[in-house]
Amino acid sequence: MVADTDTRIDQVLAEYDARAAAEQSLHAAGWSEDGRRDQLLLRIGPETGRLVSILVRGAGARSIVELGTSYGYSTVWLAAAARETGGRVISIDLAHHKQDYARTRLERAGLGEHVDWRTGDALEILRELEGPIEFVLIDLWKDLYIPCFDLIAPKLSRGAVLVADNMLRPEFSRPDADAYRAHIRGYPGMESVTLDVGSGICVSRYAPGRT
Ligand SMILES: C[S@@+](CC[C@H](N)C(=O)[O-])C[C@H]1O[C@@H](n2cnc3c(N)ncnc32)[C@H](O)[C@@H]1O
Repeated sequence: MVADTDTRIDQVLAEYDARAAAEQSLHAAGWSEDGRRDQLLLRIGPETGRLVSILVRGAGARSIVELGTSYGYSTVWLAAAARETGGRVISIDLAHHKQDYARTRLERAGLGEHVDWRTGDALEILRELEGPIEFVLIDLWKDLYIPCFDLIAPKLSRGAVLVADNMLRPEFSRPDADAYRAHIRGYPGMESVTLDVGSGICVSRYAPGRT
């Protein structure tokens, strides 16, 4: 449950859970992901969803950017939090059909007005995006984390929070995840911790000049 009161959101999240369980069964039956990556939810999962929601609400973030909508699972958590802070989520993905699927569910959850959908290459969209940005979820293909970070970092507000997914799992993402963490460690004012939540997340806060 996102909040104790919102049945529509809970129902939509339950639908995603059912789809994720079906994908798990296919895996267990030996189904190969090869060439089918775009058919999968690839979602952050409920623990990370709840944590990003807590972080958005705790920071009172209103200007929220999501890199990697996929089918909208993480967007539900972010938009529900944005509703509480009075904010909006700019959700970015390359794939039209995934964002169409996401849009339908976010509307059904009563959260549509809290999301701006941007379809296209995150690198191009981020170049044009105006700051200040108060919260970022980074969850697109892993080789893009560093170039996306470099584009978004100058637009962060003081106290902005970033969450990057897949820091610990899957194993094949580890070189990119390690490179991302090393990269942001060198960025002035960025303080980070890696947590074994979901697929492993790096939570960072930007506070330049903090002593
Ligand atoms: C791991 S999935 C996102 C999962 C989603 N955050 C969730 O929890 O439901 C990664 C997504 O990044 C998108 N993506 C990959 N490269 C991209 C790019 N250059 N620009 C925008 N989106 C991209 C893919 O289409 C894919 O849907």
